[in-house]
Amino acid sequence: MKKIEIDTPSAESLIVCGDGAFEKYIPELCTGLTFTVTDSNVYKLYRGIFDGVFSSCGQVYVIPAGERSKNYSVLLGILKAMLAAGLKRNSTVFAVGGGVVGDIAGLAASLYMRGVDLVQVPTTLLSQVDSSVGGKTAIDLNGVKNIVGTFYQPGNVVVDPLFLKTLPAREVRCGLGEIIKYGALGKDIYVKLIENKNNLKSPSFLRDITYDCIAFKADVVRRDEREGGLRKILNLGHTTGHAFELFYKRKSHGEFVLIGMYYELYIAVKCGICAPEYAKSLIELIKKVITVPAYGDVREACRMAMYDKKNVRPREVSLVVPSSPGKPQELRLSAERYAELVQSCSDELKKEGA
Ligand SMILES: NC(=O)c1ccc[n+]([C@@H]2O[C@H](COP(=O)([O-])OP(=O)(O)OC[C@H]3O[C@@H](n4cnc5c(N)ncnc54)[C@H](O)[C@@H]3O)[C@@H](O)[C@H]2O)c1
Repeated sequence: MKKIEIDTPSAESLIVCGDGAFEKYIPELCTGLTFTVTDSNVYKLYRGIFDGVFSSCGQVYVIPAGERSKNYSVLLGILKAMLAAGLKRNSTVFAVGGGVVGDIAGLAASLYMRGVDLVQVPTTLLSQVDSSVGGKTAIDLNGVKNIVGTFYQPGNVVVDPLFLKTLPAREVRCGLGEIIKYGALGKDIYVKLIENKNNLKSPSFLRDITYDCIAFKADVVRRDEREGGLRKILNLGHTTGHAFELFYKRKSHGEFVLIGMYYELYIAVKCGICAPEYAKSLIELIKKVITVPAYGDVREACRMAMYDKKNVRPREVSLVVPSSPGKPQELRLSAERYAELVQSCSDELKKEGA
């Protein structure tokens, strides 16, 4: 079992990672009154286990699976149920599921009585490599992703790769989106991805790389918990990814991260920031996981990038792009230039028959 600690000005988080982590650590964390949030798919699959572990020390609250649950009325439902269950300041909230459950249950835990203990138990690849770590919580509002939220560190994160045995192939692809993002940020992860490019989906590779991604993120969060500077790099691929996610919908977050990374690599090369050979190697990884689509007129979709939280000036879009292995950098473009480049990338993809 591997362990990583994150010490930030606001809290300490202990992350345990390994097969069987759930069985080994969850019972000892179930002290006092607990409140467990999970989603309908996860509950259907793991009801037997959850009823044994969580129901004996508190309530299990099930939200509908999917991004659509990350909204104000589901949040209110969770908070009302926490109140009705008699949760106290020393109670613990368990968020057991993918990034949707982690984000909304984390937000509820940070709001109830101004904050109760939170344990993240990520069950998707994406939430194991990324969203369960670092303390970002959120819901969407009026279709804008993660616009209402808090920074709230979980006291514990229990990462058990055994949950991935039931994960559909599409969700593995989504997790690989964030993993390739880490490859574009960290040199060692990049090297491992390139060495294993024909083996990206194998469980043993995923187990190994998950730990590397968590360790990379933990290091960034330790140095910049509230995204004043360095932490922005974790948004690589997300400016365009989120804009497309908002506008085109249909695909999942992780898939849009991969598509966003492809478009932003094209932009980085066109702007002379990223060496074409390096971009090509990352694009090869992306193409092993997803077929990147061309879109028609992208102007409306690009307008969605104006909501990006990294933007500092009006009519300007801020992106984080790779320049060379281990060296991401911020790129600011006028909204017009950004839309022009996204359009040109889409047009080239169309020519290639995407
Ligand atoms: N807080 C952060 O730092 C952060 C970082 C990245 C992404 N996110 C957020 O995370 C969300 C995406 O997370 P996600 O990809 O995990 O999506 P998700 O939570 O919707 O889970 C994807 C699907 O997998 C199912 N599932 C979960 N565990 C399973 C299992 N073990 N077996 C079978 N099915 C299972 C879920 O029911 C769901 O249908 C987005 O809302 C995104 O904004 C947050």
